[in-house]
Amino acid sequence: MLVIIEKLLDGDEVNVFRKRLVPADWIDGAQTAGTRSVAVKQNLQLDRSDPVARELGNTILRKLGNNPLFVSASLAETIWPPVFNLYQDGGHYGTHVDAALMRHPEENFSIRSDLSATLFLSAPEDYDGGELLIEEAYGAQPVKLEAGDLVLYPSTSLHQVTPVTSGQRICAIMWMQSAIADTQARTMLFELDQSIQSLSRDRNTDDPDIDRLIHVYHNLLRRWANP
Ligand code: NI
Repeated sequence: MLVIIEKLLDGDEVNVFRKRLVPADWIDGAQTAGTRSVAVKQNLQLDRSDPVARELGNTILRKLGNNPLFVSASLAETIWPPVFNLYQDGGHYGTHVDAALMRHPEENFSIRSDLSATLFLSAPEDYDGGELLIEEAYGAQPVKLEAGDLVLYPSTSLHQVTPVTSGQRICAIMWMQSAIADTQARTMLFELDQSIQSLSRDRNTDDPDIDRLIHVYHNLLRRWANP
């Protein structure tokens, strides 16, 4: 399941990000690819120690933590610091699957990647190509969002970024470990939570049926959450 979170960053915030990112110190993205990925990866990215990457990455993490749709859909426990990348001049990233286990060398923590996310920072009309193609059970879904919007998708999926044939595509990508490893279980919890939220709008705050549904939601979460 793909979940799109619109306007994680508003227009002013996107402008601030772009002003900082366009002149930043971009390096060859192949340096951080695994041995199989290096053959298919052609882009630029910011080093994780880059102060611009750290500061803007922390802003994104704060925004995610305060976004109810993101919290409900991801049930994220640990989020890998956002990685900024730039595609231009035919840059692309061929079909690949993200690494399942990732260890952060400097900060000494590891995650199992359950969910991947891409935050679009360039306006879609500013570049050609550069679609994120995510393979799902029902075929490949092309994703190209407005600047400031984020897509969340299962890390188990094969995906690619098609060549950027003109302009520049800047994005931030991140991975997260969820309290619920299983995609299907996480999707059901998300749908249940969204329905509870939607039903609650028309009910009193002490509605016993809503209370019972919330009770079921939390007990399923307790049952399925990783130990
Ligand atoms: Ni990927």
